[in-house]
Amino acid sequence: MENKRILIVDDEPSVRESLRMVLKGRADTTAVGDGQAALREMESGHYDVALLDIIMPGIDGLEVLERAQSLDEPPQIIMLTATKTVKSAVRAMKLGAHDYVTKPFDVDELLITVDRAIEATSMRREIATLRDEVGKRYNFDNVIGSSAPMQNVLKVVSRVAPMKSTVLLTGESGTGKEVIARALHYNSTRRDKPMVALNCAAIPENLLEAELFGHERGAFTDAHSQKIGHFERADGGTIFLDEIGDMNPATQATLLRILEAGQFTRVGGEKVIDVDVRVIAATNRDLDKGMADGTFREDLYFRINVIAIPLPPLRERRDDLPALIRFFLDKKSRESGIRARNFSAAALDQMLAYNWPGNVRELEHAVERALILSDGETLGIEDLPTKVSSNVPTNGASPLTIPSLPEQTPQDQTLNEAIERLEHQLIMSALSKARQNQTKAASILGTTRRILKYKMDKLGIDEIGPEGNHAISGH
Ligand SMILES: Nc1ncnc2c1ncn2[C@@H]1O[C@H](COP(=O)(O)OP(=O)(O)OP(=O)(O)O)[C@@H](O)[C@H]1O
Ligand SMILES: [Mg+2]
Repeated sequence: MENKRILIVDDEPSVRESLRMVLKGRADTTAVGDGQAALREMESGHYDVALLDIIMPGIDGLEVLERAQSLDEPPQIIMLTATKTVKSAVRAMKLGAHDYVTKPFDVDELLITVDRAIEATSMRREIATLRDEVGKRYNFDNVIGSSAPMQNVLKVVSRVAPMKSTVLLTGESGTGKEVIARALHYNSTRRDKPMVALNCAAIPENLLEAELFGHERGAFTDAHSQKIGHFERADGGTIFLDEIGDMNPATQATLLRILEAGQFTRVGGEKVIDVDVRVIAATNRDLDKGMADGTFREDLYFRINVIAIPLPPLRERRDDLPALIRFFLDKKSRESGIRARNFSAAALDQMLAYNWPGNVRELEHAVERALILSDGETLGIEDLPTKVSSNVPTNGASPLTIPSLPEQTPQDQTLNEAIERLEHQLIMSALSKARQNQTKAASILGTTRRILKYKMDKLGIDEIGPEGNHAISGH
């Protein structure tokens, strides 16, 4: 057990000396001769018990006692009184002293009193720790979440952050999955190593494996040089596999193999590479449904679903709205230099009543938009997006509004078909403007030649040489 520490305060050197002798072996002692020095020592918060003489020149014992009560961690104080100051001793008890002993003191009585005071200190500390534990609030930088549902989330986050376990974050779009992934990484011992994020949905299926694991030079047509994959770059840190629900089953199989083995080879390579990576995956898709219809592998699901953290939609944690609005008002005006202002009470009410189907992201955009558009001293209802400002609040339980489809989407084609048709048109037009020079066409489209080439293959656009001749190609 750690040594107890006792502070002895008396202006008489002989008293200080004899107390030190008596307490030797029971506790570490420090002795000072006046009230000023006593307070300085007590401020350090290191003492379990202080023995305090009442009559001293300068700041006397009672005043020290009184001032000590406002310290963060005052020691238990035992007053030392000469018989003639017993009246003061009674006053001292009222001021918060633990006990008193009369001088000249009886050694046994002194020791019993000291032991009791030491015990009282330990108990007080224990209670303080317990109380901290019970009323604990979970706080993370840049994460707003004092509502009960978010406190539950953050409690889990604080538990699992230090561990290496794979975490699966689920929740509707805009609920903060990436925010929580970052909190997990930056509150782990891996925080000084990279957190590498990969959006599995944004990368063409045939390139995903190379993105994840890297490739050797010449592994495939476009592999002009060796490339280090995300897993290797994340070594010692965290890899964030965002939108994992959009990964195609073949890549899922490779990923599963790597997660099980903890090692992999680069595409087209043979060398086995070992890495120490913590995996955090996220998706806004329903993976149960994905498994049911065969688009998500069950074995991968069980491998990544070690600790699942579902993020509640914003409409189920409206208590967070005021703090989130405040947070975004500050953040946006700070980042963009736009004059800081507040919402009017009416605008706030309107925001509190709205359902936020796009969750925190939708709220963030609404706040930013209002700050930019408004000329007024406060941000009003008219500065809110129509969806928010025209929302008719209902009383009681919040209705779940189904977001309506954009009017222009033709109902006879899927989104992918519509996008492909548009891409086809844009690419044909850029190629024609660039007289079939792919590098120029790519720059018109704001992309790279390789991506253009990839898209052309996918959309079945034939390569035509700069002079209008068909290039020599396999088909
Ligand atoms: N609890 C929060 N506190 C502060 N900001 C938040 C919080 N949750 C989300 N945000 C902000 O809202 C935006 C959307 O969050 P994020 O990108 O993490 O959502 P997501 O769940 O990953 O969405 P998606 O599924 O669309 O990728 C971000 O700008 C983020 O900073
Ligand atoms: Mg995200």
